[in-house]
Amino acid sequence: MSYDFNKITDRKNTNAIKYDLAVARGKPADVLSLWVADMDFPTSPAILEALQARVQHGIFGYSVPGEDFYESVKKWQKEEHDFEITRHWVVTTPGVVFAIACAIKAFTLEGEAVIIQTPVYYPFKNMILANKRKLVTSSLFEKDGKWQIDFEDFERKIVENDVKLFILCSPHNPVGRVWTREELTRLSEICLRHNVLVFADEIHNDFVFEGHKHTVFSTISKEAAWNSVISTSASKTFNLAGLQFSVNFIQNPALKKKFHDERDKTGYDEPSLMGFTATQAAYEKGKEWLLELKKHLASNLDFVRTFVKEKLPKARLIEPEGTYLLWLDFSGYGYSDSELDDIIVNKAKVWLDRGTMFGLEGEGYQRINIATPRALLQEALERISKALQ
Ligand SMILES: Cc1ncc(COP(=O)(O)O)c(C=O)c1O
Repeated sequence: MSYDFNKITDRKNTNAIKYDLAVARGKPADVLSLWVADMDFPTSPAILEALQARVQHGIFGYSVPGEDFYESVKKWQKEEHDFEITRHWVVTTPGVVFAIACAIKAFTLEGEAVIIQTPVYYPFKNMILANKRKLVTSSLFEKDGKWQIDFEDFERKIVENDVKLFILCSPHNPVGRVWTREELTRLSEICLRHNVLVFADEIHNDFVFEGHKHTVFSTISKEAAWNSVISTSASKTFNLAGLQFSVNFIQNPALKKKFHDERDKTGYDEPSLMGFTATQAAYEKGKEWLLELKKHLASNLDFVRTFVKEKLPKARLIEPEGTYLLWLDFSGYGYSDSELDDIIVNKAKVWLDRGTMFGLEGEGYQRINIATPRALLQEALERISKALQ
């Protein structure tokens, strides 16, 4: 079966934050949106069928996932990530950011320090600050077109601030790194040395470009497994973010209890019926669609690479190893960060995510979402190229 990822589906007036919040967020009404990390394609037909069957049934009462749901998660993790899970490790949450907030509250006290590696997905910082914890950042740095970890800085910051929790982004949004087993091992060893728990946000785990492999943090060692929460979701992979459902794997029973208790305190109980129905269908029957989607993303990436070379000669594409979010360095054009943003938003009329939203290290960068039909991607790049001339 083939799927048409170049068909344009109008998302305006569908309550999509990517499209319908433009004016409310100060963007021109006719802006082209390639910012937030969801996709402009309908999800896999197998998922739609499973959801339609529930709609047909017509009753949406309190529901819990069955044994077949856990089997589907188990099979997906094993086949895609070589990660053997048991049902008892699974805790569901209505999203990964919700799980981050739970972990912060479960494993740290107010005023205690939590470390992140900036530039990084901005809700990490927001959740730390909103929960009145101390924000500690260790900057990633770019060398020869590749963003890397400063391990000495990471360890020093942990010691200096008596850090209790590390929120890891793996694969990394926005710098596109798929951390290697060696890098993750070094991070894990530092965290174990200083009693720092690890929350691994692995929501982008299914998007890894050829030549790279995602390593589930807890597969590094028994100690890493005991010292971590792994959080993921079918929501990025299959474009289901609005269904508000994610899964966490916690092997250490003491950590699991703390996390579970914190989750329960929020009043969340049974998960979203449509969320787990879609997730199960995705993991049981979504593979073929995903393989086709990945071909489309790889082809969009090729397109951007060529476009940048030919029509945005002063910009630099950071070659992504994973995710469908590209990190583009526009500093060669010589504009200040706010001038650049103003040109892209108001002159080019394209809505991307400004690099500094992810941390000051993102100055001069913009993040572009390529999970869209080619025509929209091309139009956005043409507009940017023209505006920068
Ligand atoms: C790294 C990362 N974590 C979490 C999320 C959002 O997860 P959720 O919608 O499940 O809260 C995103 C969305 O872009 C993301 O990039």
